[in-house]
Amino acid sequence: MKKVTMLVNARDVQGHINPEIYGHFSEHLGRCIYDGIYVGENSDVPNVEGIRTDIIEAFRNIRVPVLRWPGGCFADEYHWKDGIGPKENRKSMVNTNWGGVTEDNSFGTHEFLKLCELVGCKPYINANVGSGTVQEMSEWVEYMTSDNQTPLTQLRAQNGRKEPWKVQYLGIGNENWGGGGCMRAERYVDEYRRFQTFCRNHSGNELYKIACGPNADDYQWMETLMKNLQHFMVKGIDLHYYTVYDWAKKGHATEFDEEAYYKTLVSANRLDTILTRHTEIMNRYDPDNQIGLVVGEWGCWYEVEEGTNPGFLYQQNTMRDAIVAGMELNIFNRHCKRVVMANLAQAVNVLQSVILTRDGKMIKTPTYHVFDLYKEHQDADAVYCYTQEDYSGENVPLVTSSASVKDGTMTLTLTNTSLTEEVCIESEIVGLDCSRATARILTDEVHAYNDFDSPDRVGIRDWAAQVEGRTLHLQLPPCSVVSVTLEK
Ligand code: AHR
Repeated sequence: MKKVTMLVNARDVQGHINPEIYGHFSEHLGRCIYDGIYVGENSDVPNVEGIRTDIIEAFRNIRVPVLRWPGGCFADEYHWKDGIGPKENRKSMVNTNWGGVTEDNSFGTHEFLKLCELVGCKPYINANVGSGTVQEMSEWVEYMTSDNQTPLTQLRAQNGRKEPWKVQYLGIGNENWGGGGCMRAERYVDEYRRFQTFCRNHSGNELYKIACGPNADDYQWMETLMKNLQHFMVKGIDLHYYTVYDWAKKGHATEFDEEAYYKTLVSANRLDTILTRHTEIMNRYDPDNQIGLVVGEWGCWYEVEEGTNPGFLYQQNTMRDAIVAGMELNIFNRHCKRVVMANLAQAVNVLQSVILTRDGKMIKTPTYHVFDLYKEHQDADAVYCYTQEDYSGENVPLVTSSASVKDGTMTLTLTNTSLTEEVCIESEIVGLDCSRATARILTDEVHAYNDFDSPDRVGIRDWAAQVEGRTLHLQLPPCSVVSVTLEK
């Protein structure tokens, strides 16, 4: 057994953990929306206005704070007017990015914003720059948020919604360095400046405008944006980073060897360096932290499940994904001074999903349970948390951790990344009057996953933790994610 010492100082606040760091992403891709979130009003699957009730409950349980929609690549070919009004009149389109299937637009603006209301989360609308117009984007904002009497707001009322919605987060383009128009950073900056000008704050709704950020470690893109955009034009910059150890051969989601496991974790841990370097650039131009870093897409990306449409990106989710989620969320907590939001790709039936569905059945993946373990970090203050350095596999931190305090209660989350070593944690807790520790754990064999025949194979259980004076004692079995609550 390895001993790892830690020091947590509740008095040393490092930043505030915006709940939106625990956000998700829902794209018109494969079975994320249709069959996943939305089954339509006439379905036998229990639903509210076509939205699955089991999904609503599951999202509420992990307190999903924000949902990004409608894409992704799809956003840059989405024309919002095709997705409003009587469903039988809605125009179909080909979803050219994802499987070439017909999109009937039965899930549009009203349905998405209803979903957000039912879940109790904020919408993050990603609008079309790549193939859209300034007028189209400007009108979408007016349609959703204005209280004035205009043809567009009258149309909204005619479509069943008299009151405007509150829409804070507005993405202006998606991956415009790639699928969103293959633009150079200089070109995108000019487009961004023009598009954002006509996205107005209507009727007290204040937009938080988000620019398309860099692809992973494209520091040049960040530099160009920061040099040319000021905080009154942009509030957030949306970086995308996927955990993939080899883009040419992404590997299988459930069948992998030890080498692939550790390589995946090396890729996941790279996000820490990437965030640090982007933060350094942002700090130079924006020392007062007025522009936030959004990680609008993150998660593990493997080969699609055999026998499924290759354009649907459906993959299973094992304990390996849970470890990655635990590591990345600890990284976001540690970067919360600059990172204001993160959206896991994608919420249901695509990539590193928290939920998988098949007909009327729904399962929660190991990644879902990590969001459950970490949910008390939302809206808490991140505090100093040092973990003694040690490594597993190929240079992966043996233990990753983060700590936060809210209303006098501390939440400490940890991952043991090793597949073989049990870890004994001894942590000094400074600045918090605590006598009681309770813990919960997610651990299993690394290939373990939940499936429709065994939906609860991987799940959370209670775990032992003791406080003696100022020291917390805790064991971490190999391949585990643990959350500890410390209180008076
Ligand atoms: O999440 C799948 C795709 O990955 C998104 O549509 C796109 O933005 C990214 O390349």
